[in-house]
Amino acid sequence: MKIAMIGTGYVGLVSGVCFSDFGHEVVCVDKDPRKIEMLKAGRVPIYEPGLDVLMARNVAAGRLSFTGDLDAAVDGADAVFIAVGTPTRRGDGHADLTYVMAAAEEIAHALTGYAVIVTKSTVPVGTNAQVRAAIEKTAPGKAFDVASNPEFLREGAAIDDFMRPDRVVVGVTSERAKKVMGEVYRPLFLRDFPILYTDLETAELIKYAANAFLATKITFINEIARLCEKVGADVKQVSRGIGLDGRIGNKFLHAGPGYGGSCFPKDTSALARIGQEHAAPMQIVETVIKVNEEVKRRMVEKILDLCGGSVNGKTVAVLGVTFKPNTDDMRDAPSLTIIPALVGGGARVNVVDPQGRREGEHLLPGVTWMEDAYAAAAGADAVVILTEWNEFRALDLARMARAMKHSRMADLRNVYSPKDAAEAGFAAYTGVGR
Ligand SMILES: NC(=O)c1ccc[n+]([C@@H]2O[C@H](COP(=O)([O-])OP(=O)(O)OC[C@H]3O[C@@H](n4cnc5c(N)ncnc54)[C@H](O)[C@@H]3O)[C@@H](O)[C@H]2O)c1
Repeated sequence: MKIAMIGTGYVGLVSGVCFSDFGHEVVCVDKDPRKIEMLKAGRVPIYEPGLDVLMARNVAAGRLSFTGDLDAAVDGADAVFIAVGTPTRRGDGHADLTYVMAAAEEIAHALTGYAVIVTKSTVPVGTNAQVRAAIEKTAPGKAFDVASNPEFLREGAAIDDFMRPDRVVVGVTSERAKKVMGEVYRPLFLRDFPILYTDLETAELIKYAANAFLATKITFINEIARLCEKVGADVKQVSRGIGLDGRIGNKFLHAGPGYGGSCFPKDTSALARIGQEHAAPMQIVETVIKVNEEVKRRMVEKILDLCGGSVNGKTVAVLGVTFKPNTDDMRDAPSLTIIPALVGGGARVNVVDPQGRREGEHLLPGVTWMEDAYAAAAGADAVVILTEWNEFRALDLARMARAMKHSRMADLRNVYSPKDAAEAGFAAYTGVGR
């Protein structure tokens, strides 16, 4: 198969690299010349564990290349994937389809023979039909089909998720497109990973329903965590107690500072809009969005309480700014709500993150970047664990407590326990829901 991948972000690059590893001939396209330059030089523009090695292997094998020339990449391709961003549109919470529709038009101009145009970006119900109409209008008479192939990979574990997916969802409207998509995913089909063929609208909705469900699960346990704090229960044990029930499952049941990242916030918001537009309000999802905002704000109050009601003039060390470990992605990270609130409250904020600095420097003005957790905490009035990177999971807490002015910890990921903190000499500890 010859594949063109339009967009080399977290999804496009991982998908392109993995498809080439399946043995397909893949050309990745991006309109950002800096990205293409880096990729051509063998450098990966994002942090995703294992991606550099897999990319180098497939470039060396001659199956994977990068270009800014969309026309050349689309010429002769069996499948053209659209993997561009669909951020929240300013003002109304809807998914912004500008990039998707622009890519569709460019592809329409570039088509030379039959190809399947596959939307991998997360897009509202009806978008694939819109893509088809746009291509028909721009390039009447050209032979093509559209397909919807939402992506479920998680940043930080993206390669494994792509290579060993729980399922692959493919929305198609013709046998010819189904055959091409079957060939694209043949290596996974041969290894018995389920491929679910649906119509376009169903595939589009599966993606939003999946993300909204997971966001709901996280928000549910965050709400239970709050109740735990009031009644003296331990949310970690509640999570375990319910997660062992096979009908519930133990994933996405960790109480924390609220969900963030490049998908859940924008996809819950888009699903709420889709529901409103079709007179089928997504009341649960709307509530989830509201509660998640409250959760983030509650974290600020927790830190203020820990510091005696105010952080004015105090030094707070924040460990972790990315929305989760093993990624450099800062989009909608809870740190972007919590840290500005601390800075606004008059705190001096020292931050440390293994991969977050490159993005974080522009997004978090007024903070001081430190090299490691101990340097950040030295002389501080409180330390806040915001992202559970491995290097923050095995800290020498006694060493940290000794170096602090006031040994107080807000552990917003429940990495440690009140007992661990007390034994290490911390004068005060607050977790989430315990
Ligand atoms: N990031 C994730 O974990 C994840 C997971 C599943 C699904 N998704 C979905 O995948 C889509 C892409 O997400 P992402 O995080 O990879 O986005 P991203 O912003 O990291 O990457 C998008 C890339 O597309 C490029 N681009 C935009 N228009 C282009 C055009 N016309 N031609 C060539 N390149 C173009 C941009 O320059 C950018 O490099 C979104 O719809 C997102 O919701 C993301």
